[in-house]
Amino acid sequence: MVVLQLRHFLYLAALLSSTFTFLFLYFQNSKLVFTYNFYSFVSERSQCACSICVADRGNSNWFSKRYQPNIPLLLNRTNSVLSAKVSRWWNGLQSNAGNYTEVVDQLFSLFPDKEHYSDAGPDRCRTCAVVGNSGNLLGSHYGPLIDQYDFVMRINKGPTEGYEKDVGSKTTHRILYPESAMDLGNSTHLVLLPFKILDLQWLISAFTTKHITETYIKVPSTIRAKKDKVMIFHPEFLRYVYDNWAEGHGLYPSTGFLTLIFALHVCDEVNVFGFGATSDGKWHHYFDETLTSYELGVHSGKFENETVNRLQQQNKILIHKGWT
Ligand SMILES: *[C@@H]1O[C@H](CO)[C@@H](O)[C@H](O)[C@H]1NC(C)=O
Ligand SMILES: *[C@@H]1O[C@H](CO)[C@@H](O)[C@H](O)[C@H]1NC(C)=O
Ligand SMILES: *[C@@H]1O[C@H](CO)[C@@H](O)[C@H](O)[C@H]1NC(C)=O
Ligand SMILES: *[C@@H]1O[C@H](CO)[C@@H](O)[C@H](O)[C@H]1NC(C)=O
Repeated sequence: MVVLQLRHFLYLAALLSSTFTFLFLYFQNSKLVFTYNFYSFVSERSQCACSICVADRGNSNWFSKRYQPNIPLLLNRTNSVLSAKVSRWWNGLQSNAGNYTEVVDQLFSLFPDKEHYSDAGPDRCRTCAVVGNSGNLLGSHYGPLIDQYDFVMRINKGPTEGYEKDVGSKTTHRILYPESAMDLGNSTHLVLLPFKILDLQWLISAFTTKHITETYIKVPSTIRAKKDKVMIFHPEFLRYVYDNWAEGHGLYPSTGFLTLIFALHVCDEVNVFGFGATSDGKWHHYFDETLTSYELGVHSGKFENETVNRLQQQNKILIHKGWT
């Protein structure tokens, strides 16, 4: 009953707001105003040109409560100032070294400092695949399917070479940090996941002096990647995922989970591959025997797993379960 009443209320609210819009039109009698209001009216009903749009509201309270469409996703010079709350949390993850302001200054004299993905709208249907590293990909034959999507996001060292049949060969984005870095192809965005200021310094070093060879372990001093395709997750985005989607479980969210939430913000349709265990309950990579993030202590694999399942139940993502 409560749900029903809420629906009625939302429906009424929608009716009322559209009435206002048209009254407004009537009195303004201006083409510019018409276009503006008509656009916002339509975009409240459907955010994109796919049959189901991730960003559509009203179809899931659970989702709407967590999803903040205006959160900064990628760092740039203009949005780089961190709130006290984000700064405290982010600094807590690292043994601090370096002056953030200075590092940001260097970053954006080297890498693109522009807005990405602000092209969402009723005419866009951007389809994405988020490809995790689970052993459940082995034998799946998902390769051709994965390669069909507009964006294919891969995580850390998950290789394509030798695994094309199951994981595809296209990579538009690879999310990594110094300790998980690998060389990238010419059409792949390097998306840095900065856990610490040193990671930002490493990125600069890798494209210039190449002097940083060690963080808490040995890391590559350089990386083959296109400088003009570099992107950096915003620390505020990391905190947002931790607060809203991981709900404070674990120390910080896993790379796979962060990538999935990133996809919810830049894609209209999100397909998920290579998440979860194999059918016999094993949590290892498809390319080696290393355990996937589930059992690593700093993440809350169980809670992330529940959230991912919930996203599927609410029609926000489509999970492809794999084979083995
Ligand atoms: C960081 O660098 C900026 C610019 O050089 C300077 O104004 C600021 O005081 C420095 N901050 C710290 C904490 O050293
Ligand atoms: C920086 O990112 C913000 C969103 O976080 C965006 O509004 C702004 O336009 C971006 N700056 C530039 C120069 O593109
Ligand atoms: C990438 O581009 C460089 C030149 O910019 C070229 O030499 C290289 O062969 C390209 N690599 C691939 C894998 O296409
Ligand atoms: C993850 O969620 C699925 C679906 O609810 C469940 O079958 C599976 O046991 C969960 N995995 C773990 C390790 O919690």
